[in-house]
Amino acid sequence: MNNTQVLLKRRPMGAPVAEDFEAVTTTITGPQDGEALIKNEYISMDAGFRNWMDEGAGDAVLPAMALGQPVMGLTVGRVEESRHPTLRKGDLVMGRLAWEQYSLAGDDFLVVLDNQDNDTPWHYHLGILGDTGMSAYFGLTDIGRPQAGETVVISAAAGAVGYVAGQIARLMGAERVVGLTSSDAKGERLKTELGYDDFINYRKPDLNQQFLNACPKGIDVYFDNVGGPLLETVLNHVNVGARIPFCGAVADYNTQHPQGPSNLFQIVTNSVRLQGFMTHLQLERYPEARGQLTAWMKKGQIKSITHEYDGVAQCGHAFADLFSG
Ligand SMILES: NC(=O)c1ccc[n+]([C@@H]2O[C@H](COP(=O)([O-])OP(=O)(O)OC[C@H]3O[C@@H](n4cnc5c(N)ncnc54)[C@H](OP(=O)(O)O)[C@@H]3O)[C@@H](O)[C@H]2O)c1
Repeated sequence: MNNTQVLLKRRPMGAPVAEDFEAVTTTITGPQDGEALIKNEYISMDAGFRNWMDEGAGDAVLPAMALGQPVMGLTVGRVEESRHPTLRKGDLVMGRLAWEQYSLAGDDFLVVLDNQDNDTPWHYHLGILGDTGMSAYFGLTDIGRPQAGETVVISAAAGAVGYVAGQIARLMGAERVVGLTSSDAKGERLKTELGYDDFINYRKPDLNQQFLNACPKGIDVYFDNVGGPLLETVLNHVNVGARIPFCGAVADYNTQHPQGPSNLFQIVTNSVRLQGFMTHLQLERYPEARGQLTAWMKKGQIKSITHEYDGVAQCGHAFADLFSG
């Protein structure tokens, strides 16, 4: 059977460009004993996977992606054939597989989804009900815990995690929700479509003054997807007892020389709690997160936004676009 795959042709230098990837037609045979053949219907573009494209990146559990091999990514698809001990033909699965039409999966990271649920669009499992939406949920309910009257600031607010985090912060009772983004157009969408009170365009000058204007009572929760120099600026505006769910560090992914905050003592003097977390390590809590996010969606309290490209071969373009804002 023919397969379309997108390979890592060369390691990106800085921000990925479409030419770092190559779409090829290959053939696929199998499954062998212990494997299932999965037809991927959706592939998500996740900024964090840029990490594993560098030489020597990753660790023993998840090593760097190999050159000339299909690019690792999260997918949703159906099991077409199975010789795997637990996967059954017809199972709907979300997994960490690859940018390819068909995958042979063995012991990969795979979650079997509810086959009977015909109401949930499949791509929700890669977005609002997937790793990104659940990261917003875990970061805010476990660490951020916004209270009534508090101000919540979210970086990469218009991204896949951020746009969900803003909506959840509002539902949890935050008085003011402010998003960081790189364009006024995206900022306006945060306000008109997603209920943000204000936005800060971090590419504009006078960032400190923008924070003072947008967060007149200081910052109680900073949901951070970005790290880097923005974190330094935010630390100058945190209130005593502020919480920082540290979800990701997009600012570091494309640079050989990440810049950290020079004012970490602000964390001490303001008794700030900064905590990282990994959503995929909380598998047992996926039903809780998905259940709550679905309930909010059913009540019309949060919504899903997607941006789609058609065809596996578009993955390289789509991934590059992610880093150009
Ligand atoms: N901890 C976990 O388990 C977990 C799970 C999923 C994702 N994550 C992390 O969560 C973060 C967000 O993921 P996502 O899927 O929402 O990403 P995304 O949709 O790709 O959003 C990335 C956005 O970040 C902004 N950005 C890029 N470079 C920036 C820079 N140097 N400074 C400030 N903003 C910058 C851009 O938005 P603007 O143009 O609007 O600025 C960009 O669109 C990532 O760091 C990811 O690795 C963590």
